[in-house]
Formats: sequence, C-alpha cells, structure tokens
Amino acid sequence: MSSGQIFKITPGGKLCGETRVASDKSISHRSIIFGSLAEGTTHVEGFLEAEDTLATLYAFRSLGVSIDHIGDGRVDIHGVGLYGLKAAAEPLDLGNSGTSMRLMCGLLAAQSFDSVLTGDASLSQRPMQRVTKPLTEMGAVIQTTQNGTAPLTIKGNSELNGIHYSMQIASAQVKSCLLLAGIYAIGTTSITEPAPTRDHTERMLDGFGYPIQRKGSQVSIIGQQGALNPVSIDVPGDISSATFFLVGAAISPGSDVLLKHVGINPTRTGIIDILRLMGADIQLQNQQQIGGELVADIHLCYAPLTGIEIPESLVPLAIDEFPAVFIAAACAQGETVLTGAAELRVKESDRIQVMADGLQILGIDAEPTKDGVRIIGGQLSGGVIDSHGDHRIAMAFGIAGLRATSAIEIQRCENVQTSFPDFADIAHQLGLKIQTLSEA
Ligand code: S3P
Repeated sequence: MSSGQIFKITPGGKLCGETRVASDKSISHRSIIFGSLAEGTTHVEGFLEAEDTLATLYAFRSLGVSIDHIGDGRVDIHGVGLYGLKAAAEPLDLGNSGTSMRLMCGLLAAQSFDSVLTGDASLSQRPMQRVTKPLTEMGAVIQTTQNGTAPLTIKGNSELNGIHYSMQIASAQVKSCLLLAGIYAIGTTSITEPAPTRDHTERMLDGFGYPIQRKGSQVSIIGQQGALNPVSIDVPGDISSATFFLVGAAISPGSDVLLKHVGINPTRTGIIDILRLMGADIQLQNQQQIGGELVADIHLCYAPLTGIEIPESLVPLAIDEFPAVFIAAACAQGETVLTGAAELRVKESDRIQVMADGLQILGIDAEPTKDGVRIIGGQLSGGVIDSHGDHRIAMAFGIAGLRATSAIEIQRCENVQTSFPDFADIAHQLGLKIQTLSEA
C-alpha cells in the first residue's frame, strides 16, 4: 500500500472537457484470471494498472503463469491451461481486493495443491462465508478465521461436485466464484440470483469459448467440458470511475463533460438511471459492442437535481456508485431515500455509516438506516473527512468540494490507487481544485 495521502479541495468550480477514465476493474481482473487458464497467449489492451488488479496479476505469476506487463495498459498472458497452475511458494496477498479473493477462492478450491489467501486490514474484515459455504457444499475444504474472514486456507485435491445454489444476496463475486469452481466440478453447477448482477464472467466465458447456459435469473455451467481458447481483450473505461465525474458535473452549474469509451454493460448502468431520475441530462453517444461488452461515450451537461426514492431494483446495478450518489443527494433539492442496500455496510468500509458521518460533518442532514440512508439536500460546508481508507469514499468527498462553501480535507486517500490512480490528475484537468498531500 502507498503511504498516507490527503486530498485537499479548494471549494467551487465546475467540470468541463473530455477525458478517458481508468479502465474497468472487474473486466481487468477477469482478463488475468481467464487468460491464465486459457491454452496460449491472451493479449489485453487497456488493462487497469491499479493496486487491486495488479494484485491479481502478481498472484497468477506466483501460481506459475508467465505474464508480460508491457505497460500503458498492455498485458500478454501466457495461459497454462485449466490444469497448469502450480502451488505458490508463499501465501497470496490480495491487498484490498475483494474481487481477487472471492474469485480466486473458487478457482483454487478446485486445484490439486493447497493455497493461502491473505489481504489488508479492510479485506481481512470482509465476509468470506458467502463463498466458502457454497464451495464447501461442492466438496471444497477451506478454513477461515472464527469470524468467517481471511486468511483463507484452501486444501487442494478436493473433488468438487456441481450444486444448485440460490444466492441470498445479489453478488457477482459469489456467482463468479462458483462458476470458476464449476468449470472443474463433476456435473452441473447452477446459480440463481435474486436480482441481476454484473455479468462480465459469463461474457468472458463466452468469449474464451467455454459453454454456459443462461435462463432468466439462472446461470449454469457443466464442468470438465474442454479448454479455454486465448483471445484479445480491449478493456473499456470503468463506469464506476466515470461516476465521480458524472456526479461532479451533475452538481456544479455550468459543467459539461464527455467521458470517452466507457463500459455501459446493462448490469452496470444503474448510476445513469439514478442520475436521470434525479433530473441529470445524460446522453450516450457512439455506442458500440467491443469484445462482448457494450461501450459508449457519456456526455453530461449540468441540470439541477431533485431528491428521489431510489428504486431497489437499481441497487445491484449501481452497487459501487453509492458514495457518489450520496453526494448527488446532498446537493439535490429535497429528500433522497435509499433502501435495500445493506450490502454497502460490508464493502471496503461501512459505506452507509462512513458517508453519513462525513455528510454530517459537512452540515448535511443524513440519517443512516439499517439498509440505506435518508438525505436532505442542502448547503455543503467545508471540514475534515476520514475516508476510512476506502477509495470510493475518498473520491466521492473529493468531488463534493465543487459545491462546498469552504475547503474539504479528506484523510487516508492512498487507496484511490486500488482503482483509479490518475483520479486527482484527471479531476484537476476537468476543473476540480484538488491538491494531493502526503500525510505527516
Ligand atoms: C465486483 C462485484 C461487486 C462490486 C465489486 C466488484 C466484481 O461486488 O461491489 O466492486 O468484479 O465482481 P459484489 O458482487 O460483492 O456485490
């Protein structure tokens, strides 16, 4: 992890101009995972060079995969085939990345060797039983701490059998974990989700040529059906990173931003729906299908926002975007109510509590509830905010500075490196008065 960082925002301004945001984190992780399992070389362009996705890249190198990180988003992965991974000499440290840990847990539970997965303080507090429980039902042998958290000790040589699993929570990580285990299992593994979640894993399995079946809310995979073929992958911009500039422009009069080449997979576009419901003026331009994923340029011109009741159906489709949505709500006219979002309490931080605490420091009436929040739009003041080391909390309060009456200082911003290393530079180019300082 990088050393302590502070964002200092001088209030006011607007966002104008065009830019390309950081590449998609979910697709970048999966490109390394599936590229490593393919037979031959997968070429990736636009790989996200950030701490989370590099943790996955280094982990697969430790598992014996030769990966050339050429730079500038180019990565060549010399896949070893489904049965070519080798035991790592040391525990695999996955840093802050829940996606790496949960997806790799499913894959490594099916290997012929033992593995240990560790992470930083935040990742070591996040619930892992949501993956270890169904994997155990499949026959995996995995030890967690008494609290059901990492480190995860995974025993190899366990014969896995397919199961039918009905997820209680809408989680793409759980679904993807079980699909990865399902590639190796005997028989069919099928997963039913309570609401649609991001489907990058399914699209990649299609792209790499491994058969899956999708029917309504269920996805099924039959194990041991042959090899993955290497492909070329062009990773689009991450709509979760684009969100900070969409919300920044949506709250500051006179703003006009064009975010180029952003992934608009329909399982990820809840933020566009939420902002439109609040009154934002958003246009999608230049839509095209690239490598199985829908991509577009997103244009937003300022228009005043109004508070809404956020439809619960949009929650999983915007799950990472709520820190920024809370800022939009704080700047909107009237009340915004979020329900059905208890998952936010087990992300990189408790995002309901940490955002509500921060908004209250800035003078906003924000009342956390067990599964959401109630926010009454008002005037943001300045103040000192603790991001709790959560990258998306740090960036959300960063853009809040556009509408504050005095300076906002945000502490513990170093984890912005996990998903969007160029955030401060791009935000500054677009018009946010942001300075990055080292913590004393
Ligand atoms: C992710 C899935 C989501 C999301 C996370 C990335 C993925 O988590 O919050 O940032 O790449 O599969 P859940 O599936 O736990 O909701």
